[in-house]
Amino acid sequence: MPTSRKAKQKAKQLQKLKQESISFFREIYRDEEKILVFGEGNPDAPLVLVGEAPGQQEVVQQRPFVGQAGQNLNEFLEILGIKREDIYITNAVKFRPVKVDPASGRVSNRPPNREEIELSRGLLYKELCIIRPTLVVSLGNVPLKVLSDDNRITIGQVHGTPIDIAVGEEGVRMTLFPLYHPASIIYRPQLKEVYLEDVEKLRRYLEEKGIL
Ligand code: URA
Repeated sequence: MPTSRKAKQKAKQLQKLKQESISFFREIYRDEEKILVFGEGNPDAPLVLVGEAPGQQEVVQQRPFVGQAGQNLNEFLEILGIKREDIYITNAVKFRPVKVDPASGRVSNRPPNREEIELSRGLLYKELCIIRPTLVVSLGNVPLKVLSDDNRITIGQVHGTPIDIAVGEEGVRMTLFPLYHPASIIYRPQLKEVYLEDVEKLRRYLEEKGIL
């Protein structure tokens, strides 16, 4: 729970942003049943974690990184010695991107498309400009491209390397630490070693900078 005056103020601003976003997206997705999954956690966190987009469980619970993704996240936080409630967790895209199999009618996840990424971009920037963390950790290509504001950058080039960024219209400066998305390791097990090395680099970086 936020305790300091600053944290309470930021929590209020985030709550207002969430309500405005619900109205904004309700207009856009008029005929669709889309549920917004907003960020959660410490509104005054020095560290923000940004995933790609919510999945099925996240929509059911209306919380980012729960279910299987939440388990992966807990393991990751354990390596870093960080408690979930001490950081802020959100996604680059705030809605679950889905595809429907025409034969079976089965609904499954798909990567967000460019339009979905652009629609949520401003909202992510506003969240970060309220929180003003020292460090943002991006998981995978989508939040990396949005936060670096560079569509050509790829996670293969910059994983584990801190990058200075300026966020939103205000140009709020913070450091971006790009990691592979934990789910990508399931599909590409050869990445596991690199991913764990990057997490260890992040652990040392947090320690050196005295973040958390
Ligand atoms: N769940 C999320 O909230 N984000 C992801 O990137 C993956 C699963």
